[in-house]
Amino acid sequence: MTKTLITRSLSLLLVFAFCTPILKTSSAQTPEINKASLVIHSDQTGPTINRDIYGHFAEHLGRLIYEGLWVGEDSKIPNTRGLRNDVVAALKELHVPVLRWPGGCFSDEYHWKDGIGPRDKRPRRPNASWGGVDTNAFGTHEFMDLCEMLGADAYINGNVGSGTPQEMMEWIEYMTSDSDSTLAQMRRQNGREKPWKVPFFAVGNETWGCGGEMRPEYYADEYRRYATFIKNYSGNRIQKLAVGSHDDYYEWTEVLMAQAARYMNGLSLHYYTLPTSNWQQKGSATEFGEKEWYATLVRTLRIDEFIQKHSAIMDKYDPQKRVGLMVDEWGTWYDREPGRDMGALYQQNTLRDAVVAGINLNIFNKHADRVKMANIAQMVNVLQAMILTDKEKIVLTPTYYVFKMYKVHQDATLIPIDLSAPEYKMDQTSLPSLSASASRDKEGKLHLSIVNLDPNRPAEVSTTVSGSTVKNITGEILTASSMNAMNTFDNPSAIKPSAFTGYKLQGSQLTLNIPAKSVVVLELR
Ligand code: AHR
Repeated sequence: MTKTLITRSLSLLLVFAFCTPILKTSSAQTPEINKASLVIHSDQTGPTINRDIYGHFAEHLGRLIYEGLWVGEDSKIPNTRGLRNDVVAALKELHVPVLRWPGGCFSDEYHWKDGIGPRDKRPRRPNASWGGVDTNAFGTHEFMDLCEMLGADAYINGNVGSGTPQEMMEWIEYMTSDSDSTLAQMRRQNGREKPWKVPFFAVGNETWGCGGEMRPEYYADEYRRYATFIKNYSGNRIQKLAVGSHDDYYEWTEVLMAQAARYMNGLSLHYYTLPTSNWQQKGSATEFGEKEWYATLVRTLRIDEFIQKHSAIMDKYDPQKRVGLMVDEWGTWYDREPGRDMGALYQQNTLRDAVVAGINLNIFNKHADRVKMANIAQMVNVLQAMILTDKEKIVLTPTYYVFKMYKVHQDATLIPIDLSAPEYKMDQTSLPSLSASASRDKEGKLHLSIVNLDPNRPAEVSTTVSGSTVKNITGEILTASSMNAMNTFDNPSAIKPSAFTGYKLQGSQLTLNIPAKSVVVLELR
């Protein structure tokens, strides 16, 4: 017995002795720091970052329009002409520049005349793309009212799949004509005297898929035909947008540019970030470890390559860069939440989504010479949403806060940067640990957005601002202790921005300490 005790004590001592250095190493577990360097060339200028890069998308899908935006005038939820006040107020903070509607796939089954006139007389139609029945309570007038409340430009997506050029042409006349034509008079009878401005109109959506399963050659001809009937009435000037490609479908871009570039102002691109690349098992929005974090960021970064390659094709046919690349659907797409409707595409939103948003927006800024618009999918309750709602409650997501922090880049001038950062490694692969973008706004203020992709290591960024003397720094940081930090209806403020204090300014030497898994936006004065 005693012998056993002595042996045990000895072995414990041995274990302790051998473990001590290990313990030491783990107490030195203070995370290693990624040392990076950044030069902001504030004496050079790039293209203007079109504010529409910070655009949004609202489709008749799940609980986005109905419940998310529209509750109706008789609802107990406080509303203005049927649009919920809390959601509109929160969205106003983002300075939403442009809003795309009514789809997505839904736009190719939408007939605008269903959505005008007295609401109790409007037809109820099946939403064949996403399920359920659409009451048409939210139609053209309600959408335009929302745009006016938000101060956003309207981007209407026309119906090619099941519509006609005449239907499209009449919709535009109804919305924008100041004449005494029958359709303009009908708009007045329905409560709107003055025409609206419609700066963007798209000829169909995903016509290579849900919008009609077309071949690029066929759609190029269809596009030319429909676009002919997009008319400018009463001083309205429409930018005509053609359906573009998705991911690496370069042939589509080649054919559209070769055959129809001169009839368009913009060509779209759709790209969704799936943690797995597998549409059958995309991955969970909230239950994930570092492997899924890493895989999600790898797939997010791919959009840089897609934009570069689609742009290179566009450059062949449009070297002046007259035609904008409109990334009018982007964002994360995860598996359906257990217990939610199949077609509702409702998903939670975590710090990972904030990092994805920050990376994407930095990439769009970088390509501001060609990317003229981008619309995150989607605004409320669907995919990578800004806001989630549950009856009268709302939650602002981490992605919402990124859009709020990044709004300083809207219409600012891109400032070239040189960023050199260690890689964030996993297994045999690696990706850049930092993503950044800088701009100068109309008042001359310099802004820097910087994302630390590495969930373990903070970055120490030795920063030089050439051409300016920085005396003052203010800014915000969005981060949390866990990768899947999220705001819920029970805990709506678990993750939100706070003041950024992690910098040292000694003479002209600026050091930024960017915590692991964080998004930071700074103003340098
Ligand atoms: O955003 C959801 C859907 O994704 C859109 O309706 C469609 O255009 C895309 O496939």
